[in-house]
Amino acid sequence: MKKKIVFSGVQPSGVLHIGNYLGAIQRWVRLQSQTTNYFCVVDLHALTIRQDPEELHANTLRVAKTYLAAGIDPQHSTIFIQSHVKEHCELAWLLATLCYMGELSRMTQFKDKSRNKGENIGVGLFTYPTLMAADILLYHTDLVPVGEDQKQHLELTRDLAVRFNNAFGETFVVPEPLIGEVGARIMGLDDPTRKMSKSEPKPGHYLALTDPPDAIRKKIGRAVTDSGTEIRAGADKPALSNLLNIYHLMSGISIAELEERYRGQGYAAFKRDLAEVVIEHLRPFQERYAALDDAEVMALLRAGADRARAVAAETIQQVKERMGIVV
Ligand code: AMP
Ligand code: TRP
Repeated sequence: MKKKIVFSGVQPSGVLHIGNYLGAIQRWVRLQSQTTNYFCVVDLHALTIRQDPEELHANTLRVAKTYLAAGIDPQHSTIFIQSHVKEHCELAWLLATLCYMGELSRMTQFKDKSRNKGENIGVGLFTYPTLMAADILLYHTDLVPVGEDQKQHLELTRDLAVRFNNAFGETFVVPEPLIGEVGARIMGLDDPTRKMSKSEPKPGHYLALTDPPDAIRKKIGRAVTDSGTEIRAGADKPALSNLLNIYHLMSGISIAELEERYRGQGYAAFKRDLAEVVIEHLRPFQERYAALDDAEVMALLRAGADRARAVAAETIQQVKERMGIVV
């Protein structure tokens, strides 16, 4: 049987945190041996928010190294930088011609990121989902493992694929989102009502994958808790639910068992143990990350782009022909 095709990506904008890891990258690692995979560093998406050029450059390589250190295996997966395959931009334009203003205006991420900006909202932020749809559709992707926050973008991608197929003939595979139940949404340590985000400037908000043990202990020690003293998950306990979820995902111990284990104990003991669990879980990742050689990683990315381009070029050719573009 033909292997399913998987595509996903992370933006090189800021530090990667455990939300990116638990919500996305860790799940890619588990999938990769059974599927054909494309894992992309989506640098062009990062440009929708103003980036410092040096930072963007450094972060692009950091994200690729994060993929590798987390266990993405270049034997199973094509790792590449989005801008190295120009077909992404080309298809984004062609898809934009099929996309409605109304559809893009309804995107929650656009509404969030453009709030309080008046008239000065970048056009790129608005058309962002058409580039994301292009990323996915170029590779005949079946499955897109992402965090819950990307579900709406996936629905738009599906709509655009169907719209194109109806107008110009069967061309695109209509992809399915693959969203985990737990870990789909890791919340901020300082505010459990907001998703953990790398664009958040307060360092106490997120746990970076590269945080040293001391920083992890400090951040977890200071994490917001709920009123009361019980260590229990539930709708009335957003902070504890989030911490229990992180504990569960990093230790494999079920939330029910954790609640049992910490019954009658205070927050201090729970947080102390949680910090150690996170430190131990991240230790092998951090060791692998430190051992990676930048030049070797770049060579891998270039080879990945060559492989991706071969597929993308073929798709674009077909799309253009069907649309009546002289090729
Ligand atoms: P981004 O940081 O927006 O490029 O996101 C990269 C990937 O991480 C996407 O699949 C997101 O859905 C996922 N992700 C980002 N933040 C979180 C979070 N707080 N919890 C779970 N997944 C997340
Ligand atoms: N928009 C995604 C995010 O912010 C990143 C992304 C870009 C992506 N293109 C993609 C994810 C294609 C999956 C598939 O997280």
